[in-house]
Amino acid sequence: MTYKEPYRILCVCLGNICRSPTAEVVLRHVVEKNNLKIIVDSAGTSNYHIGDAPDSRSQLHAKKRGYHLSALRGRQLATRDFTKFDLILAMDEQNLQQIEKLKSIAEQEFGASALKAELAMMTREDKSQHNVAIADPYYGVGTGFEDVLDQCESASHAWVSYFQQHHIG
Ligand code: 4NP
Repeated sequence: MTYKEPYRILCVCLGNICRSPTAEVVLRHVVEKNNLKIIVDSAGTSNYHIGDAPDSRSQLHAKKRGYHLSALRGRQLATRDFTKFDLILAMDEQNLQQIEKLKSIAEQEFGASALKAELAMMTREDKSQHNVAIADPYYGVGTGFEDVLDQCESASHAWVSYFQQHHIG
């Protein structure tokens, strides 16, 4: 039998300490629960939190639902990511624009044929929040961190249905 590379997904937000680490862990959980062979990672478009653990508020709210974020560390999206990942999921439109900009730099660096990443909003496959942004909870009050978890859980189930329908993973 020939070895097939696993499908790889990168979740991207601004800081890589609130939304994308949450998306990474929630999507990985749903992927594994459905026995799909998919690798999930996350990164930020900014360099603000390189090496930092996820925001303590994200960790706390996630933990209440059984998700563990503490081992993750912030990293910045890099041009080589476009050659490694099959799907890059943006948490909001600003992130998507930044990802598109970096993709054109990656194209110059590696050549278009070396890039395999498809870009999409985290919520693309989710009928209940189609292409809606995962709202940034960083400066917010109230239910922001719970809302991120709700949105990521709903979006992750939708992506897994999509992967199953398209025989991905
Ligand atoms: P994230 O949230 O993009 O969901 O990780 C933010 C984290 C940090 C900052 C902004 C948003 N910041 O400006 O430092």
